[in-house]
Amino acid sequence: MTDPSLDQVFARLADRDGDAAGIYTTLAPLYRAMYAARGRVEGQLATVREFAPAATRTVLELGCGTGDLLGALGARYDRAVGVDPSPAMCRFAARHGPVCRADARGFTPRSADLVVLVGAVLGHVRPDDEARAALEHVRETLRPGGRVVCSVHDRRGLDGPRERSLTRTVEGYEVTQTDEQRPTADGEFEWRVTFTVTAPSGERRQVTTTTTLRAFEPSELERWFADAGLDVIETRPRTYVDGDGEDGRAFVIAGRRR
Ligand SMILES: C[S@@+](CC[C@H](N)C(=O)[O-])C[C@H]1O[C@@H](n2cnc3c(N)ncnc32)[C@H](O)[C@@H]1O
Repeated sequence: MTDPSLDQVFARLADRDGDAAGIYTTLAPLYRAMYAARGRVEGQLATVREFAPAATRTVLELGCGTGDLLGALGARYDRAVGVDPSPAMCRFAARHGPVCRADARGFTPRSADLVVLVGAVLGHVRPDDEARAALEHVRETLRPGGRVVCSVHDRRGLDGPRERSLTRTVEGYEVTQTDEQRPTADGEFEWRVTFTVTAPSGERRQVTTTTTLRAFEPSELERWFADAGLDVIETRPRTYVDGDGEDGRAFVIAGRRR
């Protein structure tokens, strides 16, 4: 099956209301268009490589999304496998490497040298008990001494509503993504994304979708890592960017299986 083009997505936007069109399902081609930005994958890969054990052969990427990083990991290591629960994302990712539609639980214990969850994947795993259980499964999947690299939203950067807009031209369409982030409760925030898509003909369509995500205090996630049997190697602000005004919004945490 071929991926939907922006022509097809644009046609579908006519009869969609926001919540029926999840950012990782119907709107996945728009997500890809906006996030497969130059510099992002390179930044993610550089961070992963820095923390990867020297003898890394097998890498598992949880929440691999469109698979751009997965392809880079596959080129660098003997084996990189992507995992994502979204069939639409898995379809894109399959062009870059082996993928399965699953979560961390499906993997053989002690089979991976490195597990990667970047781009706020852990923040998507709700509620907290599930996210903590996911970290325990990550620990089980890692061989002793194996490592995990994770990036999440920084709760300290979300003390009030935030908004930003980014415009790119893709396949002749001008796509503007407006993100609104509004803290809700217990570290969660609502991420409301509006895509405004202008066709080459000048016709314009708009769709909004909302997702609830978890942001973390670094010390809080460090405790979760420790509780899951992962020794924290380092926690640091994420420095690579995928758009303007990203600084201070996310941090990277790397851990090691005891
Ligand atoms: C913000 S995207 C990040 C994708 C990719 N890692 C990147 O950096 O571009 C979050 C991804 O997490 C996936 N996801 C959502 N819930 C998940 C879960 N419980 N376990 C694993 N992945 C999940 C989504 O389908 C989506 O592809």
